Amino acid sequence: MKILITGGLGFIGSNLIRKANEANFTDITVLDNELVGREKHIDGLQAKLVKASLSDDEIVDDLVSSHDVIVHLAADTTVMGSIENPQYNFETNVISTFGLLEKMRAHGKKRLLFASTGGAITGEAEPPLDETMPARPLSPYGASKLAGEGYLSAYGGSFGLQTCAFRFSNVFGPGSFHKGSVVAAYFKSVLNGDPLLVYGDGEQTRDFIYVDDICDLLVQSFSTDYSGVYQLGSGAPTSVNELIGMIEKIVGTDNMPKVVNKPKRAGEVEKTYCDISKARAEIGYNPVVSLEDGLQTTWSWFLSHREVFDKAA
Ligand SMILES: NC(=O)c1ccc[n+]([C@@H]2O[C@H](COP(=O)([O-])OP(=O)(O)OC[C@H]3O[C@@H](n4cnc5c(N)ncnc54)[C@H](O)[C@@H]3O)[C@@H](O)[C@H]2O)c1
Repeated sequence: MKILITGGLGFIGSNLIRKANEANFTDITVLDNELVGREKHIDGLQAKLVKASLSDDEIVDDLVSSHDVIVHLAADTTVMGSIENPQYNFETNVISTFGLLEKMRAHGKKRLLFASTGGAITGEAEPPLDETMPARPLSPYGASKLAGEGYLSAYGGSFGLQTCAFRFSNVFGPGSFHKGSVVAAYFKSVLNGDPLLVYGDGEQTRDFIYVDDICDLLVQSFSTDYSGVYQLGSGAPTSVNELIGMIEKIVGTDNMPKVVNKPKRAGEVEKTYCDISKARAEIGYNPVVSLEDGLQTTWSWFLSHREVFDKAA
């Protein structure tokens, strides 16, 4: 089986390649323009790199035609970035996803696994979020992922593609040094002795899921034929204040910088966590790593990779 992973140099992509290799999937091609990810993220792993952008039509067409399964992770990934530049977000996330589907249709390819998102699509809603809730994105990022899901569904209905839209919650883990998401940002602040910034009162909740739990499900989905939208998280809420308490236990009170509260940011959802019962029942999703264990492993990785990743390039 030949697997194409867009955005494979990124956080989730590099962990996915490691997990795929462990499961004996070695015929893997990465399409990544190194906008964010770096080749060193997949050092020692079995995967070929094609350094190109999603918008390089001929290269993408050639890759789609020569692979069996496509995992589409490359994207403009941040809520705040999408608010600053919605046009770029639209082109990267919507037009490129549509382009991939069109190329799959043209070449008779069937299987696409798409990285979607939970809270950003559903917007403010009473958690737990499930797949049946109306979508009311509050940011261009959420809207772009919703548009992607719409096209996946349409290409299933009209052209028989088998597509999965996996709505990841807040993924954390090793390999996230370059990320601005809260766990990575806090561990970097601890390493640098910078204050931990909390936007709002810290009582906002998120659903933190360890990256291996997500990647195990993705690997399992290479060779199955289910389609649909699935929430993938831990299924439990954790407030930012609770997260800070756990981080303090792991890094030690003496190493803990002060916490500084800032005004709440526009476009961010206040309370969220997801209901994972559909993914558990239909596709055997089974997250096993506790938040405490995952944080401990992530902190150890940050400590041991600080020298390598603490540089801009
Ligand atoms: N990390 C999370 O918590 C989370 C949560 C929900 C959804 N997601 C989604 O999962 C996917 C992967 O996220 P991640 O955290 O690994 O992000 P990441 O930024 O670490 O990885 C994204 C990769 O895509 C590449 N890329 C970006 N634009 C590209 C383009 N135009 N052409 C080619 N490559 C391009 C980047 O260089 C990077 O290596 C994204 O689609 C993201 O929206 C992530």
